[in-house]
Amino acid sequence: MELDLNNVPKHVAIILDGNGRWAKAHHKPRSLGHLHGAFNLRDLAKYADSINIGYMTVYCFSTENWKRPEKEVDYLMKMPPRYFEKFWTDIVVNTNIKYKTIGRKDRIPKKLLTTLEKVEEETKNHTGLVLTLCIDYGSYDEITTAVKNIALSYKNDEITLDDINPKLITDNLYTKGYPKLDLLIRTSGEYRISNFLLWQIAYSEFYFTDTYFPDFKPEKFKEALIEYQNRNRRYGGL
Ligand code: IPE
Ligand code: IPE
Ligand code: MG
Repeated sequence: MELDLNNVPKHVAIILDGNGRWAKAHHKPRSLGHLHGAFNLRDLAKYADSINIGYMTVYCFSTENWKRPEKEVDYLMKMPPRYFEKFWTDIVVNTNIKYKTIGRKDRIPKKLLTTLEKVEEETKNHTGLVLTLCIDYGSYDEITTAVKNIALSYKNDEITLDDINPKLITDNLYTKGYPKLDLLIRTSGEYRISNFLLWQIAYSEFYFTDTYFPDFKPEKFKEALIEYQNRNRRYGGL
C-alpha cells in the first residue's frame, strides 16, 4: 500500500525508546545508542516535514528518567547542546522546522535550557513541521500544573466553576494550541505510555513496533503512517 500524501496525520507523537538496548545489541555503550537515536530523530523530522506532517512531539527525557545513573543523565543533558552546535546549519538554518520544548524548565542544566531557548527563538518564524522535544516532561506534572493554574484563576475571580471544561484544561497544558494527537508511536517493543500525554491521547491511534528507535528509519515510520491511514476512527460514533 502507498502512503496517501493528502491524508497525513496533523500531529504524531513518538515515545522514542530502545536506544540502550540498540547499543547493547551492538556491544556498544548506552551513550552511543542515544547518539544514534538523535541522528535518527533528525532524519525522521526531515521526512515528516517533507510530507507536511504539522506536528511531531517526541518524548526525549521523562520526569522519571532522573532516576538513571548520574553518568547517563549527564550525557543526555549535554547531548542537545553538542548536537545543535554540530548540526546547526543542517537542522536549524537549512530546514523550515520549528523547534519547541515542553516540560519542566526548573531542573535541567542552564546550558541545555539556553540552547533550547536559542533554537526556539531562531526557528520561531519557520513554517514547516513543529518539532516538540519533551524534556523533563511528565503528564502528571503537566496536568498538575494545569490544575494549579486553573485553581489560581478561580481564586482570583477570573473564571467561574462553569468555565472549567475540557477546552480550558486543554488550553492549560504545555501543548496549548496544538492540533489533536492523531497517532502515538512507541518503539522498542514496550506496550505502555510511561506518563506521556495522558490527556492528549484520548482518541489517538496507537502504533507499537519492536524496532529500537535508532533503527526506526523514515521507511519504517512511513509504514506506521500507512497503517494509520487504514484505521477506522469512530470517536464513539458508528
Ligand atoms: C530512550 O531509550 C531514551 C530515553 C528514555 C532517554 P532508552 O534509554 O530508554 O533505551 P532502553 O529502553 O534502555 O533500551
Ligand atoms: C519513556 O521511556 C521515556 C522516554 C522515552 C523519554 P523509558 O525507557 O524511560 O520508559 P520505561 O521505564 O520503560 O517505562
Ligand atoms: Mg527505555
